[in-house]
Amino acid sequence: MDAFRDGHHEFENAHLESFEGSDPYDLFNVWTEEAVSNEELEPNAFVLSTVSQDGQPSSRIVYLKDNIDGKLVLYTNYSSLKGGEIAENSQVSMLFFWPKSSRQIRVQGICSKVPSDISDAYFASRPRGSKIGAWASYQSELLSSREELDKRVKEFEAKFPNEVPRPEYWGGYWIEPTLFEFWQGRPSRLHDRIVFKKEDSNWKIERLNP
Ligand SMILES: Cc1cc2nc3c(=O)[nH]c(=O)nc-3n(C[C@H](O)[C@H](O)[C@H](O)COP(=O)(O)O)c2cc1C
Repeated sequence: MDAFRDGHHEFENAHLESFEGSDPYDLFNVWTEEAVSNEELEPNAFVLSTVSQDGQPSSRIVYLKDNIDGKLVLYTNYSSLKGGEIAENSQVSMLFFWPKSSRQIRVQGICSKVPSDISDAYFASRPRGSKIGAWASYQSELLSSREELDKRVKEFEAKFPNEVPRPEYWGGYWIEPTLFEFWQGRPSRLHDRIVFKKEDSNWKIERLNP
């Protein structure tokens, strides 16, 4: 995967043939590692877009928390707006943007809940305050006032003085990618765009006009 290292320079001379047989995860891993080493502000944050049953898209930022056998994992409230939309339409889009590196990655895929033992293990690793917050926040529902939220936090603090169990409406989703597009900014808007599309179990690779 050396052809992918150092962004611009290597893409410049990389013909499509040099990507043949390669796996988009190699490039995905290199770019996510470089987002950290380049000190991008939020290297693990991405825009998650879901689509309602009537075709209305919604986007929001979430954190990529894991990559389990190629499935990209985030954690959230299953009863949120996004949770409702994923239940109706499992096709989602992810977008990473790293301005310092002049890079973006679009990922499209199918989203489903992770097995509950994976959510349990992740929830257990969180700080107590975040665990209580997961109980206190009915994410995306109407809230009459900040006081109402603060009151619920106190109630759950009292209810769970020691261990805080995982609420059953809170857990992970994983996205099984069917498409990756790697975008590298280049001078004069002559950017590189390399697309990997999953066809059966192989990745078809194409270069797009910028
Ligand atoms: C940097 C950043 C990271 C975030 N990470 C998460 C996350 O990992 N999970 C989450 O549920 N919400 C996260 N949020 C909040 C979401 O953007 C969003 O407000 C929330 O999930 C409710 O979305 P929904 O009403 O569309 O379901 C994050 C927001 C920001 C700005």
